Amino acid sequence: MRRGRRRAGTNLVPARRPIGSSAIDALPDYDHETLLVRRGRRSGLYTMVAVHSTARGPSLGGCRMWSYRAAPEAIADVLRLARAMTFKAAVAGLPQGGGKGVIMLPPGTTRLEGDERRAVLLDFAETVEALQGTYITAEDVGTSEPDMRVIAEVTPHVSGLSTERGGSGDPSPWTALGVEAAIRVACERVLGSDDLAGRTVAVVGLGHVGGALARLLRDAGAELVVADIDERRRALADELGARWTDPDSALTAEADVLAPCALGGVLNEGTIPWLRCKAIAGAANNQLATDADAQALADRGILWVPDFVANAGGILNISVELEPDGYDPARAETRVRAIGDTVRTVVDHADATGATPLAAALEIARRRVDEARAQPAL
Ligand code: NAI
Repeated sequence: MRRGRRRAGTNLVPARRPIGSSAIDALPDYDHETLLVRRGRRSGLYTMVAVHSTARGPSLGGCRMWSYRAAPEAIADVLRLARAMTFKAAVAGLPQGGGKGVIMLPPGTTRLEGDERRAVLLDFAETVEALQGTYITAEDVGTSEPDMRVIAEVTPHVSGLSTERGGSGDPSPWTALGVEAAIRVACERVLGSDDLAGRTVAVVGLGHVGGALARLLRDAGAELVVADIDERRRALADELGARWTDPDSALTAEADVLAPCALGGVLNEGTIPWLRCKAIAGAANNQLATDADAQALADRGILWVPDFVANAGGILNISVELEPDGYDPARAETRVRAIGDTVRTVVDHADATGATPLAAALEIARRRVDEARAQPAL
């Protein structure tokens, strides 16, 4: 049932939700292969890597540099994120497993600079090296390409280096390209055509991915409603001829597609009743507050493309860097555009089984991991 306008004064989009926040006591179930936590000899800070699965290949996942209240919270995060990477890689059809790295900054520290930053990156690199290639690191929240160069001084098990260094460079434009492919298939399913000309898309968060996505959508002829908590992003909206609004209004705008490209948790019991879009496909990780929200979206007749399916462009691009022939942007583009086929597979499976797209995507991923696990070990 469509609802009318939402009550004034309700804040729908969390202003700043800690990325990957987990209750200290709520450690996820352990079905991981390895958890390595080391106190860095240079920095004195904890660096950690969780390898969830190498059944389909070496585990791949970014290094998150983030402030946590205490070590158990960081450990819960690295375990949860590593497992999510297994499913993300498997549903994308990658010959990679899932892992994640965390550099735990002390409470209240938002960023390290200079020698302190270098010290903790070298400590993290030793943690990666100790895993002998079962984990390959990359950029994530709080780290960037220059950090990967420091890590590469100690270990070869690092990806996401600049294209000048034979790496795959900034993943964000590739993530945006994959989200665009997902949006096209969502339109195909709910509107009968993947043509974006004249479609209205609401992009919430105009950062690295959201900004690149907005450009792609504008070039394809879409009408844009955009928002960001950072007023400086308004210049891009003006340049693209997009309608600039506040995050809550963009989230609940009457639109063909909603593309959440900021932080997680944005689809929840407080926001879902007020949505006025037909489909959702965006870059933000962990868009659902709980798995039950996938059913709530389905009940409202909104097609939600699981975030880990739509936003796999970055990891697909990195995986090309790991192939024996080395990085090639043309191969990367083919892989990333194939996200559209993955979305079709997931939605077909959901339609055929009566499951939500979330359940369908997880089942496909689990089946692939289980098949790989069933292969005899060499
Ligand atoms: P970013 O930090 O460049 O951009 C995020 C933007 O969202 C910023 O402009 C920020 O001001 C804005 N924002 C924050 N809170 C907001 C709110 N409540 N309402 C509206 N705007 C808000 O990050 P990036 O790289 O663009 O990533 C965006 C999302 O996509 C994140 O959730 C990230 O984890 C996810 N992602 C990114 C990938 C990549 O290749 N960069 C790959 C896969 C997922």
